[in-house]
Amino acid sequence: MSHSASQKKRRVTVVNASPRKKWITAQILRSAYQGAVDAGAETEYVDLYDLTFSGCRSCLACKRKGIANPCKCYWKDDLAPLLERIYNTDSLIVGTPIYFGEPTAGFRALFERLIFPALSYNDYSTQFQGKIDTTVFMPMNAPQEYYDFYYVDRMNLFFDPMRFLNGKTELIPVCDTMQVDDYSKYDMQGFDGDHKKKRHEKEFPKLLDLAYRIGAGTR
Ligand SMILES: Cc1cc2nc3c(=O)[nH]c(=O)nc-3n(C[C@H](O)[C@H](O)[C@H](O)COP(=O)(O)O)c2cc1C
Repeated sequence: MSHSASQKKRRVTVVNASPRKKWITAQILRSAYQGAVDAGAETEYVDLYDLTFSGCRSCLACKRKGIANPCKCYWKDDLAPLLERIYNTDSLIVGTPIYFGEPTAGFRALFERLIFPALSYNDYSTQFQGKIDTTVFMPMNAPQEYYDFYYVDRMNLFFDPMRFLNGKTELIPVCDTMQVDDYSKYDMQGFDGDHKKKRHEKEFPKLLDLAYRIGAGTR
């Protein structure tokens, strides 16, 4: 390895796939971002819902014979430059709330556009040359026991195609989150606001600390 290559900064891309820019997902990701910045990584933070984009349009440009770069999404919208930057990152840190038992629609669109170009339709191998380690924070209302019983298998299945990026993928469920700061103002009788608040005060700082260390690469 050349001297300059060994000096290369670690690249970290943080993507908030929650439409809320200041709430649970965003706070976790801001902490991860800060960790990466403090560790001297080349870091960017993106609020996905600020961009105008769609999921895969099945244009199949990435599967045409003779294209210069097969692992590239050729659809031109706000997502295309972000996808390019993600393909060049070392560490992708994403947060997506769970909506109806799945990552958000925004995340799903990103996922389709990121993974489909990597998938070879010749032999189903990956045509991505790099390696990206991914951490996915998944805030949700569901308590941990519910996640362990109903969600864990389907999340593992959903995220399985991340293997086309050649790195490790770690899923971190963030359970029983506070959806609003004052439950008394909402018709949300199905939730115990006091319990949520207490849990939040106890558990959330630990999570922010974990996110910081993941961002810093020190965990
Ligand atoms: C449209 C919608 C659907 C949701 N569906 C689920 C669900 O199926 N399971 C769950 O545990 N939480 C569900 N939630 C709760 C969110 O996942 C939870 O409040 C999360 O903390 C939101 O992240 P945020 O604080 O970053 O916005 C849903 C929330 C919304 C707005």
